[in-house]
Amino acid sequence: MNYFKELEVLLDASCAPYSGFNVASIIVLKDGRSFKGVNVESAAYSPTNCAERNAIQTAVTEGAKIGDLQEVHILARNAAKELVQAYPCGPCRQVIAEQSLNDTLIFCYASENEVKQHTIAELLPFGFLGAEL
Ligand code: THU
Repeated sequence: MNYFKELEVLLDASCAPYSGFNVASIIVLKDGRSFKGVNVESAAYSPTNCAERNAIQTAVTEGAKIGDLQEVHILARNAAKELVQAYPCGPCRQVIAEQSLNDTLIFCYASENEVKQHTIAELLPFGFLGAEL
């Protein structure tokens, strides 16, 4: 399914007063439920939360378990208010890999019809999934 229109609306909920870079994410679970997230920035910078992890944390709060994550959809808009194709940052890739048991698709939108699709294993090869702990 294409989530561009919902992501575009969701971008306006992003709280990014310092970077001006808005990110919206919609994640889909194996049971069909979907959850939204936006980036929320902090004046202290490091407490900033990414859109993808906010969506995942909401899903977990609502009962999602490890392995339930099936799809991650992402749209971003820069400070000049142009839509830009953005890929998940390193910490988001780590959390996506763990929550999907390294088996999810990531959709990065540039527009409604330009969508790059990757597996998490492509974006985070040789991931650390915790089995070694
Ligand atoms: N950001 C995300 O929300 N997701 C990513 O995967 C990359 C970065 C946010 C964090 C920060 O608010 C802004 O984009 C600029 O880094």
